[in-house]
Amino acid sequence: MYKFIRYFLFKLDPERAHILSLKLLKLAHQLYLTKLLPKRDMKKPAKVFGLNFMNPVGIAAGFDDNGDYIDALASLGCGFIEIGTVTPKPQAGNKKPRLIRFPKQRALINRMGFNNKGVEHLIQQVKKAKYKGIIGINIGKNLVTDLDRAIDDYRHCLQKVYPYASYVAINISSPNTPQLRQLQYDNYLESLIAELKNQQVKLAKVHDCYVPLIVKVAPDLNDEQITSMSAILTQHKIDGIIAVNTSLSRQGIEHLAQAQEAGGMSGETLFPQALHVVSQFRRCLPDDIPIIACGGISSADDANKMLAAGASLIQVYTGLIYQGPQLIRRIVTGLP
Ligand SMILES: Cc1cc2nc3c(=O)[nH]c(=O)nc-3n(C[C@H](O)[C@H](O)[C@H](O)COP(=O)(O)O)c2cc1C
Repeated sequence: MYKFIRYFLFKLDPERAHILSLKLLKLAHQLYLTKLLPKRDMKKPAKVFGLNFMNPVGIAAGFDDNGDYIDALASLGCGFIEIGTVTPKPQAGNKKPRLIRFPKQRALINRMGFNNKGVEHLIQQVKKAKYKGIIGINIGKNLVTDLDRAIDDYRHCLQKVYPYASYVAINISSPNTPQLRQLQYDNYLESLIAELKNQQVKLAKVHDCYVPLIVKVAPDLNDEQITSMSAILTQHKIDGIIAVNTSLSRQGIEHLAQAQEAGGMSGETLFPQALHVVSQFRRCLPDDIPIIACGGISSADDANKMLAAGASLIQVYTGLIYQGPQLIRRIVTGLP
């Protein structure tokens, strides 16, 4: 069925096709058609970060930037949904076209640049949603905010989303906001995480609820950088990490003309790099800091490799574009 729909979707510009698919899914959900999807075997409960997940397979950030499709996505049977990246103010993102498909390799390059309607809109959408499962909210900084003031944007978003999120993901790894990845290193990382953990203590008292803080990391880190990031994250008692965001590498698509387009690569060609980074972080982080694995996961076999490498949860994005919503069920039912 999805192969048939995909045939038409792939004739459209990739970004338009993505928005159209989400709108069709929302319509199908409103017409109760998604109730026809098999629900059997979708319960594989997992307790991570002190939260109860129906199953360990979630939808990664950027799929629903603004939280406009929460209930429709939840009807696919995923164990959690991460919405965002959201910034304090709405912003348009980079010039279009900014999303490229590599169908044979089942990969994408995107340079979206945090196009989103801003944190106030996202909160309204979360409030409206009927879904009662796990929602992660992924936060970032506006393009116009200097790196030295980035903390202000993250603090603002954290304060706003805290009462509505099951966990908050701190995105310091998108390759499409200039210099953002600098926040992964040394003094920048140290001061950002110290401040946000400080805020978390205050917010936990105000809202009488502890919301885990999770850092999303890039795949383009060498082993030395992973070691020093892990030391800082451990010292500040981060609650978890998501590994990984999109990559600057072009491994697997390097021979193709459009491979030189700016942006981050995702999809099956990212999987080996993502698996390596997950294993390295697992080696460097204490056992009580869980890892959400993301990057090119496109089968239950991939998911099981990530779990064997030490991940506790799985996220998918590009696999959904190429395989459709059945991918979630295929992975969940293939987990032990
Ligand atoms: C079009 C597109 C937009 C994305 N937007 C975001 C984003 O806003 N924030 C974020 O943390 N990750 C974003 N990502 C990265 C994904 O969440 C994920 O980390 C990455 O694509 C690797 O997983 P995959 O190979 O399963 O797609 C985006 C990815 C794509 C393809």
